[in-house]
Amino acid sequence: MRLILAPMEGLADVHMRRLITAQGGFDWSVSEFVRVVDQLYPARVFYNMCPELRNGGRTDSGTPVRVQLLGSEPEAMAANAVRAVALGSFGIDINFGCPSRTVNRRKGGAVMLQEPESLYRVVSAVRAAVPAEVVVSAKMRLGFDDTSLMLDNAAAIETAGATELTVHARTRRQGYAPPAHWHELARIREHIRIPLIANGDICSVDDYHRCVAAAGTIDVMLGRGAVRMPSLARQIRDNTPVEAPWASIEPLLHDFWCQLSAVLSPRDRIGRLRQWVNYLRQRHPEAEVLWQQIRQETDVQKLEGVL
Ligand SMILES: Cc1cc2nc3c(=O)[nH]c(=O)nc-3n(C[C@H](O)[C@H](O)[C@H](O)COP(=O)(O)O)c2cc1C
Repeated sequence: MRLILAPMEGLADVHMRRLITAQGGFDWSVSEFVRVVDQLYPARVFYNMCPELRNGGRTDSGTPVRVQLLGSEPEAMAANAVRAVALGSFGIDINFGCPSRTVNRRKGGAVMLQEPESLYRVVSAVRAAVPAEVVVSAKMRLGFDDTSLMLDNAAAIETAGATELTVHARTRRQGYAPPAHWHELARIREHIRIPLIANGDICSVDDYHRCVAAAGTIDVMLGRGAVRMPSLARQIRDNTPVEAPWASIEPLLHDFWCQLSAVLSPRDRIGRLRQWVNYLRQRHPEAEVLWQQIRQETDVQKLEGVL
């Protein structure tokens, strides 16, 4: 069983990765994406997106972090992959799942799922550029509008030399709307030989078991479920579906707030706190009470009092 913390732009940044991986259970995490157009970025771009590179490529609790690249230009992707690895990234992950219109308009992310040969070109360029022992993984959705190219896309990624494939069990058209279609992953599982990592809507130990049964793989990537319940990976690993008490979340919120105070403006700090509490309230009734107290509060001192 391998449990991976999902890349989530604007949500699972270095602070959230630190906090969640400290709860244990994760094998590695993937950074927010670095969007590659046609240039080789200086080191600071990678350090900004993945500050863990200054820490041996690991979160404070020791979980490795893999830099994710998004782009469609093979040479530029390869050059940036080499740089990320030289800076200490624990492999390279390539994003073929981003549904953003802006990103898709520039031919990056999920739009590439319409052309398996583009996936092939990007993955093989990255694979050829980084040392053979470095993991090159890819993350895709079931398709763009439908699943008609799903197996071709997975095969293109495998043939190009990727070491493993993560699939978010929805098409781009399906966005983030439930349910995730885990059973489709079983078709991919039968079609490729590299490890398949299932992703989408795994929010409890029970979800994990249902996903494993449907998808036929025991490796999963956890995203929003781990934001709502930071101990989710540990619960899955220990097979203990015990709801973490709110008392165990409160100190994490406090820790998060303190971390942010060192790096963000009061406005941004409040925004990030609200964002997380908004996720937490989907799982913890106590967070709903807190949400009502903070949703319109703009005074940092008063917020601190509430926390
Ligand atoms: C706010 C947000 C940001 C995301 N950013 C990324 C990203 O940068 N790269 C990526 O591959 N997927 C990204 N995703 C998709 C997630 O990694 C994951 O595939 C998706 O949320 C489904 O998994 P979940 O139901 O466990 O959250 C993002 C998702 C969310 C909600």
